[in-house]
Amino acid sequence: MSTERKKVIAGNWKMNKLPNETMDFIDKLIPLVQNTENEVILCVPFTDLFYALLSVQDTNIKIGAQNMHYEENGAYTGEISPNMLKSIGVQYVIIGHSERRQYFNETDETVNKKVKAAFKNELIPIVCVGETLEQREQGKAEEVITTQTELALQGLTEEQVKNTIIAYEPIWAIGTGKTATSEDANNSIKAIRNKICQMYGQNVAQSVIIQYGGSVKSSNCTELFTMSDIDGGLVGGASLDIEEFSKIVNFKK
Ligand code: PGA
Repeated sequence: MSTERKKVIAGNWKMNKLPNETMDFIDKLIPLVQNTENEVILCVPFTDLFYALLSVQDTNIKIGAQNMHYEENGAYTGEISPNMLKSIGVQYVIIGHSERRQYFNETDETVNKKVKAAFKNELIPIVCVGETLEQREQGKAEEVITTQTELALQGLTEEQVKNTIIAYEPIWAIGTGKTATSEDANNSIKAIRNKICQMYGQNVAQSVIIQYGGSVKSSNCTELFTMSDIDGGLVGGASLDIEEFSKIVNFKK
């Protein structure tokens, strides 16, 4: 059944690139990824979204944001709402990235609220889960990631869960050059899928796209993305480089 799931490669630019760099990057990326059967998403800073959306018109590249508030409007100075994203044509949004959990006080509760708000506004959430090195060394990795998954998805319909993208990103592998072994990553993702199976049944669990993230690059992506349960990747550093990112999108199966 796993072969029916498509591979989804999403770039997470984090706080990088100005509008002119965004447009230049996308113009050069378009011909390099136009023949892929994999889904290609670029999650760019808020100030780049509009330029990115103009640049990808009539191409196979989709655009996502990296965060949003869960309310649709109100006195939340500096925040961006789901319907604001939707109104300009954004289709995806990263929710609960570990950097947001770590530096901006995101909790499992706000993650759940944001996931629900995303679906209400027809945005597809890319929900990040992952354990710290300490939690891994204490043998708690599986418990941490399955609990994060359960709390993130709480209250969603089967259809919504089927359309959710989950990114398993072990925190110790993000931006460190350390990658989980493909087997470890696959086992963690299987544990997440099992949790979804317990909550929503086999059919839903087998439909959910679950990516791996954490120091993905062109030299390790094939090994990771050809594992049974890994459905592509959320790519940080390597997504800032056109050639490197296009190689990852076009990884050899
Ligand atoms: P990295 O980041 O690929 O630079 O490790 C991944 C992420 O944080 O999404």
